[in-house]
Amino acid sequence: MRRTLFALLTSSLLVRAWLPDNAPSSASISAFANSGTSKIRGVNAGSQYILEPWMAADVWQNTLGCGEAQAERQCVETAYNGDMDAAGAAWQKHWDSWITQDDIRQMVAYGLNTIRIPVGFWMKEDLLNEYERFPRGGFNHLVKFCGWASDAGLYIIIDLHGLPGRQVANNAFTGDYQSTTGFYQSDYESGRAYEFLAWMTNQTHTNTAFRNVGTIEIANEPKREDSGDTQWLVQHYYGSAIDAIVQAEEVLGVADAGRLHIAVMDDLWGSGPSPSTALTIPQLSRLLYDDHNYQFGPIASAGNTPSAALTYTCADTVGQGNRVDAQTPKVVGEWALKLDMLAGQEVATEENRAFFESYFAAQMDMYERTRGWVYWSWKVQGSADFVDTLQWGYLNAVVAGVVDADLSAMLAKSPC
Ligand SMILES: *[C@@H]1O[C@H](CO)[C@@H](O)[C@H](O)[C@H]1NC(C)=O
Repeated sequence: MRRTLFALLTSSLLVRAWLPDNAPSSASISAFANSGTSKIRGVNAGSQYILEPWMAADVWQNTLGCGEAQAERQCVETAYNGDMDAAGAAWQKHWDSWITQDDIRQMVAYGLNTIRIPVGFWMKEDLLNEYERFPRGGFNHLVKFCGWASDAGLYIIIDLHGLPGRQVANNAFTGDYQSTTGFYQSDYESGRAYEFLAWMTNQTHTNTAFRNVGTIEIANEPKREDSGDTQWLVQHYYGSAIDAIVQAEEVLGVADAGRLHIAVMDDLWGSGPSPSTALTIPQLSRLLYDDHNYQFGPIASAGNTPSAALTYTCADTVGQGNRVDAQTPKVVGEWALKLDMLAGQEVATEENRAFFESYFAAQMDMYERTRGWVYWSWKVQGSADFVDTLQWGYLNAVVAGVVDADLSAMLAKSPC
């Protein structure tokens, strides 16, 4: 009893890392003042450094010539014959054009204040083994990209999205589409992740382009199951990954006020036991919980109608639209307008537009009951129907008039 109370007190009092409301003087997060809120309102830089073919079919086919390849590694192997420099030269065109400095300025003009940047471990090129093939040169671009985001005053979350050995099977978001996962319970693969995280931490504190990086996320969307793999993840990997970041900061003598938050997926994601049970109080004091809430599955089960979608979203029940629980600080780091009910409809009819406005506003309202939200994703290329573009692309939805460029006006439309 005494211990529990002590743990609660210390974990709430001794937060030793920064968030936008207590930024160190080295950072310049002017986009928060511009957005008029202390809540995180952000977008993901999806497909910038780990391309998912469904988000950018034209780039995949025409800029990169990836054909039927399912993910970046497979494209470099098949379309570039394993030549990573040639692939890097081709990818450079994509990096330079997918999300540009103008896009980043546009984010701020739309009242956004945060960007989450998914990256793969292969950005640290000396980690690649003799079998792995990925485009070379991404890190140099990331430096430039974070420089733009810092100049624009955005808070930056660097997200380790593609882990060594793959954290999920058959998914392009890891950069490596294969039917097996090699990451879990492997000292070799997790060792490469720790090296990546220590290196990235050092970069964020020594290169001014990274001055607005306030969070590093150590594993995007691991397996959603309770198994030996996820028990290892929670009981072994999380603590060691946090220690790798902390040690890199100790070497540099980073003051508490300038230390990074370390993001892990929250309990609602469902990867084995809660991270809270396996970490020490100092480790817990560094966490930012990341909640990803895609509602199309449960809303389909709940009747798949507009009113079912809004009822589900506005529900107080934790785990529906309400994401607030004991895990704080928390951000809803991925969500979208995606619903199955309007699949295949070609354009935003007025009726659909009004519904999607309410649906966006409802989610925004609910997620701002945490520290805030980061939409998936900034933009999506593809056909002009709700499924491919408007429901996943923030820019697409603003251009279509579904999301208001004035986010405070948007919030006022919440039916919750
Ligand atoms: C940290 O990064 C700087 C450059 O940003 C580099 O000079 C230094 O060697 C790095 N330190 C470690 C321990 O990697």
